[in-house]
Amino acid sequence: MIDCPEIRKTYEKMFDVFYRQFHDYNKAWDYMIDFITVDNCPPMLEQMDHKFEWYFEDEEFASKIKDVYDLQLLKSDRHDYLGDLYVDNQSQLTKSFKGQYLTPDNVIEAIVQMTVGETENEVNILDPCVGTGRFLIIANKYAPNANLFGVDIDLRALRIAFANCALHNISARFLHANSLKHETDISRPEGIYNWQYANRWDSCWDELKLMSTSTPSVEDANGLKVSEKVAQLKLESFG
Ligand SMILES: C[S@@+](CC[C@H](N)C(=O)[O-])C[C@H]1O[C@@H](n2cnc3c(N)ncnc32)[C@H](O)[C@@H]1O
Repeated sequence: MIDCPEIRKTYEKMFDVFYRQFHDYNKAWDYMIDFITVDNCPPMLEQMDHKFEWYFEDEEFASKIKDVYDLQLLKSDRHDYLGDLYVDNQSQLTKSFKGQYLTPDNVIEAIVQMTVGETENEVNILDPCVGTGRFLIIANKYAPNANLFGVDIDLRALRIAFANCALHNISARFLHANSLKHETDISRPEGIYNWQYANRWDSCWDELKLMSTSTPSVEDANGLKVSEKVAQLKLESFG
C-alpha cells in the first residue's frame, strides 16, 4: 500500500543516486540505510564500519543526495515506504531473506486494535518476525508508552526497522536472532541476557543464548521483577 507517492518517489530517487555512485545493489542499499539512520540517530555512527568518507569526500555525490533527501517529507508519514522498496528490490540483493511479504497497514491496524488496543500503559510488545518494523510503528500509535521489541533473522530488514524508528523518533529494541531458536522472553534470564545485544548494527548472533526449557517466572534469578529489568533495558529515545 502506498499512501504518499512523493515519499515513495523520494526513496526511489535516493536509491538511484546511491546506485549510480556504487554500481552495486547491496552497497547502494546498505549505505542508503546507514545514511538515513545516522542522520536521524547520530550515535549509531559509532557502530558503522565506515565513517561516511564516501559522502564527505565527494562533494558532487553529497550534493546529489542533499537534492533528493527531503527529510521533512519523509517524516510526514509513518507508513513503511522503505519496507515496500526493500521488498521490490529483494531479487537484486544478496544475503537477504527471500520471499519477504509485509503486512498491509489496514490489517496491522485491525490486529493492533484487537490485541493491544488504545492504552497509555507501559505494556511490552514483541514482534518475533518484525521485518521492517511496521507492526511496532503502528503499535506505537495505539500504545505510545509501550516497550517495543522486534526480532528478525534478516539483518537488513532489521536495520530498515531501526532506520524507520529513528526517522519517526520511536524508541524500540531490535535483535538479530532466530525466534524459534534463541531466547527472547524477557521473563527468563537468557532472554534478558540476549536483549543486551539489541540495536547492534552488526549481528551478535553467535553470542546469543538458546531457548530455555525452564518455567518462566515474573522474577528473574536476581530477584528483579520483569518490569524493573525492562526499565534497565530502556534506551534513550532517538533524536
Ligand atoms: C512475512 S514477514 C512479516 C514482517 C512484519 N512482521 C510484517 O508483518 O510486515 C516475515 C518476517 O519473518 C522473518 N522470519 C522468518 N523466520 C524467522 C525466525 N525463525 N525468526 C525470526 N524472524 C523470522 C523474516 O525474515 C521476515 O522478515
